[in-house]
Amino acid sequence: MKTILVTGGAGYIGSHTLVELYNSGYNAVVVDNLVNSNKESLHRVEQITGAKIPFYEIDVRDSKALCDVLDKHQIDACIHFAGLKAVGESVEMPLEYYQNNMVSTFTLIEQLMNHNCKNIIFSSSATVYGNPEIIPITEECPKGKCTNPYGQTKSMLEEVLMDVQKADTAWNVVLLRYFNPIGAHPSGLIGENPNGIPNNLMPYITQVAVGKRPELGVFGNDYPTPDGTGVRDYIHVVDLARGHVAALKALSRNCGLSIYNMGTGNGYSVLQMIDAFTRVNGILVPYSIKPRRAGDIATCYCNPAKAKAELGWEAEYGIEEMVRDSWNWQRSNPEGYTTE
Ligand code: NAD
Ligand code: WQD
Repeated sequence: MKTILVTGGAGYIGSHTLVELYNSGYNAVVVDNLVNSNKESLHRVEQITGAKIPFYEIDVRDSKALCDVLDKHQIDACIHFAGLKAVGESVEMPLEYYQNNMVSTFTLIEQLMNHNCKNIIFSSSATVYGNPEIIPITEECPKGKCTNPYGQTKSMLEEVLMDVQKADTAWNVVLLRYFNPIGAHPSGLIGENPNGIPNNLMPYITQVAVGKRPELGVFGNDYPTPDGTGVRDYIHVVDLARGHVAALKALSRNCGLSIYNMGTGNGYSVLQMIDAFTRVNGILVPYSIKPRRAGDIATCYCNPAKAKAELGWEAEYGIEEMVRDSWNWQRSNPEGYTTE
């Protein structure tokens, strides 16, 4: 397995995964319509890796354009990151989310099949567990009710991919359920580049730290957690990227259908995250307590043992490296990727 089609490769997790792919001797072909990214991220990946990465600015829903890319390159496996991911926006614009995430994945599966490539890694999410029945969450934990269209697309696409694999066992499908990716490449050249007001905790913290926003709102301090604030399993994006490389090895062993949690197994509260950021980076993050955010759950962290046992992968970075690298990226790129 040598050449990997990376959909959504210009995005946050995709760009970090490209670095790890090249570090491990793979080649990539990137398709992305840049709806939530900037192609400067790919230039930065090229700067880090020294590789020239073939890039096609296309929408994955464009069957003809995707077919042309697959005619041109012999692809061994696909890592499918492309999709819309903002939870709140998905509630406002459900059709756009269903249309984009579902149709792009259908088109991709069809075109991969037509080009005789039946190996795919799919970006799923801890959101499919809903309000989890078991903590720490194992892969056996039943899927739960998703409270928003974004989560529904992830859950439904898991089912679609499982059915495709069941109908044709030549397919190898790895579903990776990410917990909360944060951090950035230690070089500070690539990182998370949210449009507008960040939805997620860490980019909000770094934007407060860099002076773009006056204070952080902490969404609720009356949860049944040790300090009352929400607890999550934050994972360094470089560890997550390496998890994809480990999953490629499972594809080459003809793994059939496999599902893995991608987290560290450690839960940190919002206040612990603020504290870690301040302690490591020496910057105060002003905050105030706000009401709970609709749809949030109290606690979400995983048991990552299955990925360790079967993929030989486990997260190596701790919370200190995560907050250090998030800040290193933000302060080196206060406006994100500004050049084309
Ligand atoms: P991102 O928005 O940075 O990257 C997604 C990329 O897909 C973007 O570059 C965007 O331009 C591209 N894209 C979207 N729709 C497209 C289409 N129709 N055709 C071509 N390109 C398209 O997001 P990310 O954080 O890197 O997430 C990558 C994947 O992981 C997504 O599927 C996301 O849902 C999933 N995920 C992310 C998180 C997280 O917290 N970041 C957690 C769990 C799962
Ligand atoms: C983390 C904690 C908030 C912002 C989301 C998606 C999930 C996945 C990852 C894609 C929570 C609190 C946050 C802020 C805060 N994405 N918070 N103030 O909600 O765990 O997961 O991103 O698949 O599907 O739902 O991540 O970073 O938004 O929140 O207090 O300004 O920080 O309440 O406890 P979440 P998050």
